[in-house]
Amino acid sequence: MSYLKETEGSGSFVVKVFPNEESVAQAAAEIFIEQFKKAMICSNKFSVVLSGGHTPAKTYELLAKEPFTSQVNWRHVNVFWGDERCVPNTDWRSNYKMAFETLLSHVSIPTRQIHSIPLSNEPHKAAVEYENILREYFGKTMPLFDLVFLGLGNDGHTASLFPNSTSLNEKVRWTTYLKNSGEDFSRITLTPQILNRTKMAIFLVTGQDKAEILKKVLADGNPSETFPARLIRPIKGELVWLVDSAAYLQ
Ligand code: 6PG
Repeated sequence: MSYLKETEGSGSFVVKVFPNEESVAQAAAEIFIEQFKKAMICSNKFSVVLSGGHTPAKTYELLAKEPFTSQVNWRHVNVFWGDERCVPNTDWRSNYKMAFETLLSHVSIPTRQIHSIPLSNEPHKAAVEYENILREYFGKTMPLFDLVFLGLGNDGHTASLFPNSTSLNEKVRWTTYLKNSGEDFSRITLTPQILNRTKMAIFLVTGQDKAEILKKVLADGNPSETFPARLIRPIKGELVWLVDSAAYLQ
């Protein structure tokens, strides 16, 4: 997919600017295919962390259709989530629900390979359960995902890593939980150190309402608890921002 502009960040990320959200989704789907093919060469299995929110929906819908869907042997795909809201998976706010409706219900990923974040009225238990799911999948080694999708909130959050939250400094546990003021549900999230254990991380950011925060986040590469999205620096891979021109007013 052609893009309008590519800039090197502080040497550790690339920003690709596209005309609109449709072309961002197309580019993201193409990268998914590329990463899947690389994984099949290396290990014959592919682990992807899905983002919640609205932005990735178009990408997931594209992956469920031709020409993309037949390029993936979905039986080799393992799906995880970067974060989840502690709501029923039929609730409109559920990240699982969005992924199920746009992608997972349309492709043949074995159910045992859809590693959704356990839901519980006790978020501390759900966080531990999710870490155990990750440990079971990755065995004795630390996680290393093939691809992580992320979004950017208007306050600079990503996944459920919010500005100046204690989760940002979690270095032992792989998952944590929180409750945002103003939300009537708790959240479970992967920690920054685990989100960074990936061969590639992709931020999907579109729309004029993200322009101000995107400019602040990209302003410099210094990690910042004010802008948790800046904490995403894949340890063994690439960080790519796929944005549309409405969001990229640098
Ligand atoms: C969540 C998401 C969150 C999201 C951003 C952007 O569960 O809230 O994981 O991190 O990616 O808030 O959301 P939009 O794509 O809807 O703008």
